[in-house]
Parts: sequence; C-alpha cells; structure tokens
Amino acid sequence: MRIVLVGPPGAGKGTQAAFLAENLSIPHISTGDIFRANISQGTELGRQAQEFMRAGQLVPDEVTIGMAKDRMAEQDAVDGFLLDGFPRNIAQAEALDRILEENGQKLDAVLDLEVPEEEVVKRIAGRRICRSDSSHVFHAEYSAPKKEGVCDVCGGELYQRDDDREETVRKRLAVYHSETEPIIDHYKRQDLVTTISALGKVGEVTERAMNALRQND
Ligand code: AP5
Ligand code: ZN
Repeated sequence: MRIVLVGPPGAGKGTQAAFLAENLSIPHISTGDIFRANISQGTELGRQAQEFMRAGQLVPDEVTIGMAKDRMAEQDAVDGFLLDGFPRNIAQAEALDRILEENGQKLDAVLDLEVPEEEVVKRIAGRRICRSDSSHVFHAEYSAPKKEGVCDVCGGELYQRDDDREETVRKRLAVYHSETEPIIDHYKRQDLVTTISALGKVGEVTERAMNALRQND
C-alpha cells in the first residue's frame, strides 16, 4: 500500500505512522525524521534544513523533493510506503504525482488526522523525543516513558524538540493552514481522502485508521 498521512503539527502522525507501518509491513518515511537525523549527524542536508525548521518554516522544495524521491526509491519502499510529513504543499503533491506516474504507481489512500488546536498545543508542549532516533516519541503525561528522560525503545536520552517552543508552534500551525491544507483538496479531487478524528487513546486512533484503510482496499 502507498499511503500519505496529513494533519497539523502534533496531531499524532509520527505516533500513528509507527503502528500503521508495522501493521502493514511498509516503511515509515518521515521527512521531518530524515531532516532531524541529518542535523544530528552534521551533514550538508542537515545544515540546509536547520534554519528553516528552527523558524517553523518549510524547508525549500529543491531540497525536500529530491530527498523524498531518493528515499522512496530505496529497496524497502518498492512495494509500498507510508509518507508522514510529505507532501506538505501543492508543489510537493504535484511532484509526488509525477514520481508515482513515472514508476507506474499510485496512492491507495490519504489519511487526514483531524484534531482541535487546543489539543495540538497540549500534545506538543508535553512531547519528548529520543536523541538517537526522533521516531521514538513520548509524552510527559499521555504516554510517559517508564523512566523519566530515558527512551523505552533504545535507552537514548529524551529531549524537547527545538521547534516545539510556543511561538514556533504557532508559526508551524499557520504554515500548515496556508501551505499544507490545500493538498487535502488536491487529493479529494483524486478521491483519496479519508478524514478521521485523532482524539482519544493512541490505540483507538490506530483502529480508526486501520478501518479506514480496509475500506479503501
Ligand atoms: P515534522 O517532523 O513533520 O513535524 P510536524 O508535521 O510539525 O508534525 P509533528 O512531528 O510536530 O507532529 P506529529 O503529528 O508527528 O505528532 P506526534 O506523533 O509526535 O516537521 C518538522 C519540520 O521539518 C517542519 O516544520 C519543516 O521545517 C520540516 N519539514 C518536514 N517535512 C517537510 C516537507 N515535506 N517540506 C518542507 N519542510 C519539511 O505526537 C505529538 C505528541 O502527542 C507526542 O508527544 C505524542 O506522544 C502525543 N500523542 C500522540 N497521539 C496521542 C493521543 N492519541 N493521545 C495523547 N497524546 C498523543
Ligand atoms: Zn530511542
């Protein structure tokens, strides 16, 4: 299956993507995680992305589209993938359409995670992520690690993301509404969108998402 997850910052895309990718045996491709890994490794790509991320802005398409295309071309993604955080504007959605067409592929579903803004703010304020792997995500109250400050998955140190400060979160939400939300209409025209509520327990949201995907199958 080829799936795109959309939703505002803090909706739980990364959290859900981890479970869905495992259930469906497809790789979880998060452009945000790839950028963060590059920043912590000090690569040229990380250097290019860092200032934009810190400001809550999108990393330029010239950097992002090629990176996503390369990742989708890797061996583990040949039969399917779950995209989290890409595409994030109309130009990226159109680029993805072209990449899929060149490969004779198509998307099976676009899942739109809906969550009220007050909840997003609470989720982001409590989020803690792992220094070794930013796809290991916790929440100080809602999904606390067994030992404070320590990743349950790999033992890495947990920290608060650089772009999770309140004013940056506000900027990211504004960018979501102006740049990313329009892709939902783009995919509605392709009849691919299912909107699900991202409220409730993590497992309940996963169940809703799996049901939506089964109906799309
Ligand atoms: P990215 O890393 O993609 O961040 P985002 O889209 O802002 O999304 P988040 O990671 O903030 O939230 P999420 O929805 O994954 O929520 P999570 O599961 O962590 O992008 C970061 C930056 O990178 C961008 O601003 C941009 O600069 C750049 N970038 C990335 N992709 C790009 C692209 N394509 N083009 C250009 N630039 C790009 O959950 C949040 C918290 O809530 C966690 O603490 C979690 O434990 C908790 N939680 C989750 N589910 C629940 C639940 N059901 N109940 C209670 N708590 C929950
Ligand atoms: Zn970890």
